[in-house]
Amino acid sequence: MEKLHSTAGQNGNIPITEPERQYYFMEKARQIVQKKTEEIKRPLTFCVTTFGCQMNARDSEKLVGILEQIGYIEESDEEKADFVIYNTCTVRENANQRVYGRLGQLGRIKKKNPHMLIALCGCMMQELEVVEKLKKSYRFVDLIFGTHNIYKFAELLETRMESGRMVIDIWKDTDKIVEDLPVERKYPFKSGVNIMFGCNNFCSYCIVPYVRGRERSRDPKAIIREVERLVADGVVEVMLLGQNVNSYGKTLEHPITFAQLLQEIEKIDGLERIRFMTSHPKDLSDELIRVMAESKKICRHLHLPVQSGSTRILEKMNRRYTKEGYLELVSRIKNAIPDISLTTDIIVGFPGETEEDFEETLDVVRKVRYDSAFTFIYSKRTGTPAAVMEDQVPEDVVKDRFNRLLKEVQDISAEVCAAHEGTVQTALVESINDHDNSLVTGRLSNNLLVHFPGDASMIGKFYQVRLNECRGFYYIGEQIK
Ligand code: SAH
Ligand code: SF4
Ligand code: F3S
Repeated sequence: MEKLHSTAGQNGNIPITEPERQYYFMEKARQIVQKKTEEIKRPLTFCVTTFGCQMNARDSEKLVGILEQIGYIEESDEEKADFVIYNTCTVRENANQRVYGRLGQLGRIKKKNPHMLIALCGCMMQELEVVEKLKKSYRFVDLIFGTHNIYKFAELLETRMESGRMVIDIWKDTDKIVEDLPVERKYPFKSGVNIMFGCNNFCSYCIVPYVRGRERSRDPKAIIREVERLVADGVVEVMLLGQNVNSYGKTLEHPITFAQLLQEIEKIDGLERIRFMTSHPKDLSDELIRVMAESKKICRHLHLPVQSGSTRILEKMNRRYTKEGYLELVSRIKNAIPDISLTTDIIVGFPGETEEDFEETLDVVRKVRYDSAFTFIYSKRTGTPAAVMEDQVPEDVVKDRFNRLLKEVQDISAEVCAAHEGTVQTALVESINDHDNSLVTGRLSNNLLVHFPGDASMIGKFYQVRLNECRGFYYIGEQIK
């Protein structure tokens, strides 16, 4: 746990500056939790469930950091926890349905635990209809906040504890970035690091710009300081996070490029690996390709979402590149960094997608030969331009295309993965293998996993491993002395 500030002895005056204000509320909430703990003679527990992307995962680590500061103890079983927090995602409709489904069940559990609190936060809460529905039909929820004011979690929780009433605080947008709040990492040896928030791209299918607000880059000094602190605390690998990292820094008072930021981070002693996501193809510069090619620390992996292979559909998606432009970019990357692993996101069934458009997508998949691809069925998001486009594709047609795409993607990625068989590579051991505790699971620079004999003492360290056998999406290997 990183403890950066202390506000003990504030004489009851509530600080107005951040993060001091939040440390003040953490202390107040801590006193309430302590009193309760003495009353019921056991610690109060929490469980944070994260839906969605790496941004949300990082936000959840911030929530956990605050909760631990307040004196809550983590409980992995949601049904036993005194405080359940859902950090939600709304990128596709099925993400929302899962939240409502699980929430219904939580309501029943809450009836049996008088100490239980429920909080909802994250992207779904930025939608007006969602909050209206919760207010009407899910009265048992205690606290609702959004993506822009997550830093205020301690203050909102304290307000809920004092008032005993449902607390709702949603901001439409923000230009604020609050630094130096506590955060509790899931892994001691690796960490996500936000470099920017929000998105300005407005791809026509996507709700993220509406729920995450306008693009804001963090000050490079704050990023470097955070990475240095993480390294001092045992981190060897960072994942730089942003919806479009390639446009990092453009709006700063002293603009700097993403490639320059990477070069600064590379200089940090003790940091071994740098990853980042996500790259928008339209903003990926030759400077970045050169910096990656020359780097010793940037991993040999690039997630480069294509979304569709049809230029016509890409235009309707507002992606601002063509099929040819994308393929040309890919060949520049592969020429400069021959051992690069490429992964992607693909949407099937965007409004107006014809069989010919879909064939173009298959063609890109065959030409690029991705190491892996996340494939999604188009989901209509209210409020986005695509939601009102004509020619929504019938469900059975989409399902058929989706299955064909999946097969193509899987066949190719198995072949691409097998190409590394027999080579020796560096793996960072992340965990004991889930199914066989005589094995450890390590991640290679190219993001593939290898399982090899080992024990818990190896977690967080690097080993040279021979990749003996490829099993589709992962390897079985052995450590080389
Ligand atoms: N900023 C990232 C993506 C964030 S969302 C980028 O631009 O690459 C992650 C993925 O979800 C997207 O790449 C897209 O493939 C998918 N997605 C977003 N909106 C969607 C929708 N309405 N229906 C289906 N998939 C969607
Ligand atoms: Fe969504 Fe496009 Fe922004 Fe990615 S770049 S978050 S797909 S709007
Ligand atoms: Fe979902 Fe929000 Fe991420 S909508 S994908 S959690 S930015």
